[in-house]
Amino acid sequence: MSRAFTLAVIPGDGIGPEVVAEAEKILDAATAGSGIRFEKTRFSLGAGRFLDTGDTLTDDDLASIKAHDAILLGAVGGVPGDPRLKDANIERGLLLKLRFELDHYVNLRPSKLYPGAPGPLADPGEIDFVVVREGTEGPYVGNGGSIRKGTAHEVANETSVNTAYGIERVVRYAFALAERRGSKLTLVHKTNVLVHAGGMWQRIVDAVATEHPDVAVDYLHVDAATIFLVTNPSRFDVIVTDNLFGDILTDLAGAVTGGIGLAASGNINPDGAFPSMFEPVHGSAPDIAGQQKADPTAAILSVSLLLDHLGLHDEAQRVTRAVEDDIEARDGTARETSVIGDAILERLRA
Ligand code: NAI
Ligand code: MG
Repeated sequence: MSRAFTLAVIPGDGIGPEVVAEAEKILDAATAGSGIRFEKTRFSLGAGRFLDTGDTLTDDDLASIKAHDAILLGAVGGVPGDPRLKDANIERGLLLKLRFELDHYVNLRPSKLYPGAPGPLADPGEIDFVVVREGTEGPYVGNGGSIRKGTAHEVANETSVNTAYGIERVVRYAFALAERRGSKLTLVHKTNVLVHAGGMWQRIVDAVATEHPDVAVDYLHVDAATIFLVTNPSRFDVIVTDNLFGDILTDLAGAVTGGIGLAASGNINPDGAFPSMFEPVHGSAPDIAGQQKADPTAAILSVSLLLDHLGLHDEAQRVTRAVEDDIEARDGTARETSVIGDAILERLRA
């Protein structure tokens, strides 16, 4: 097979370029000799670009990114609290804007405790689940405002937007995934209090469930879910949840599965109308940037998700296996970013 994919690469700020360099090494090696090529375009976006030019994400950037088959992103953002970045609006104006404009309605975050990975739980059992977080609705859409700002009478609204269309499409994705994994789906919400949105989520899950008789369906309130993620994470397989709950749960999920250096994610448009974006969950880590101290594993596992999304399942599996082998061999000795990347590269080639 000979095939070329176009890839938009956004290294970003801080450790972003360091981990993306390793991720690209692995991507190139995983497809070397197979006739599959990645034609890469580099985009300078993030805090650095804002400081240089005052731009966050221009219409031209967006149009150009849209024309690619997929996106690989490192991390964006400067030192939290840097006064020069007060108006940069990196979170809403760049990251969320990409997710909304590219209709990334599935935010996919696999959580697996690899053998040998350090974790905070004394008796974790087997942890291997995937969070399917809705990515385009909920309280993150910017549907709000405030009046009488700065006064004792200030009013602030941040309205959660939930549509039947938006919920159904992400629920369908989650059921299909649960069916492929031969397992179970857990809806996480807060239906006892958020009765309007929660009720609609529950009804849609119940309706789609009738088309998937092989998938066991479970429900947990989000507060209870945080308990079980710590006391009995093995009970989860596919979790489907809204944008806000998913944001919080996936940080917890990352923490119980070896930490921020390992957590990968995909912002996915399953319809293929727009390119999907793959990125480590972590940020730009200004505290360790430029020192080769960052663990590139999360970025490399994001490459595996990217390959899988493009239908390159064997290549994806080879990357994951190389990472698993490397994690299993870790003994706690600190290694530089490129040393970890090279070690995984060597296992991939073996
Ligand atoms: P962060 O994830 O960058 O760092 C949190 C802590 O984890 C730091 O101590 C850091 O050194 C450590 N860490 C992160 N990634 C690591 C890795 N690969 N290996 C080893 N240690 C790692 O989160 P923080 O400090 O809240 O944010 C820093 C900047 O990143 C901010 O500007 C923030 O807005 C941005 N950010 C960007 C994200 C993205 O691009 N998707 C996501 C989260 C934060
Ligand atoms: Mg988060």
